[in-house]
Amino acid sequence: MAEARIIEGRALSDAVEAEVAAEVARLKAEHGLQPGLAVVLVGDDPASQIYVRSKGERSLAAGMHSETHRLPAGTDMETLLALIGRLNADPKVHGILVQLPLPKGLDERRVIDALDPAKDVDGLTLINAGRLASGFPGLTPCTPLGCMMMLRDVHPEGLAGKRAVVVGRSVLVGRPIAQLLLQADCTVTIAHSRTRDLAELCREADILVAAVGRPRMIKGDWIKPGATVIDVGINRVPFDNPEKAAAGKTKVVGDVAYKEALKVAGAVTPAPGGVGLMTVACLLANTVQAAKAQAGL
Ligand code: GUN
Repeated sequence: MAEARIIEGRALSDAVEAEVAAEVARLKAEHGLQPGLAVVLVGDDPASQIYVRSKGERSLAAGMHSETHRLPAGTDMETLLALIGRLNADPKVHGILVQLPLPKGLDERRVIDALDPAKDVDGLTLINAGRLASGFPGLTPCTPLGCMMMLRDVHPEGLAGKRAVVVGRSVLVGRPIAQLLLQADCTVTIAHSRTRDLAELCREADILVAAVGRPRMIKGDWIKPGATVIDVGINRVPFDNPEKAAAGKTKVVGDVAYKEALKVAGAVTPAPGGVGLMTVACLLANTVQAAKAQAGL
């Protein structure tokens, strides 16, 4: 069998970001409206620092207003909620993203639900999650949106009737992508750490989404020949090369055993270089959507 098609994130995310930039330019010229994104980072988690920098740079590159609020790890709830209150009231800011995970001691749910749902460009408030689960329009989490764009690109014939298995039930990815697949008329199963016969279940999937956070957990023989595999995992592991591993060097791998998947799947996303690139592009698109809705456009 031929090797799987590799679903590159770069070309698609570039296309989305170019569309966003064109729409930002149009909104500025025709309506005097500059979409604005505020990113809030609490603490010094190294991976979060990288993501947050990229979110700031990409929003500026698209012509948007961008601000990043960095708070120390010891920040208390009151201070964080006060900042969110100010951003909710700031007319320059149309989208607010609080980078997760928050340091221990902060109540993530309370912080997220302090966001004005109209500015919740991550789609994580209970209001937006409830809208998604009920099939009403709202702001949708960025990573799941990016996954759906990739799936639509691979399947121009449509997704209706396909068997989809989502491995992972997180609020950030597993649950919302299951909802989006359902909206696209897939038959959806959500698998998790207590699922029995996981490998067998995965082998039934026309579309397999891996979002568990376990390096290379999904093996080649868990994949139905010809299936489309979306790997959301970003896991840091030691290098396979013993010398590099001994030097403490690490690399990023997904939740899917990629080389094995290439031999079985019809299409597969690389990790890194796949879904991750789509997340930021969709964040920018959500910010434009939020700005237009707030301006009544
Ligand atoms: N941390 C990792 N991914 C995400 C995301 O999509 N949104 C937020 N807020 N935090 C994250």
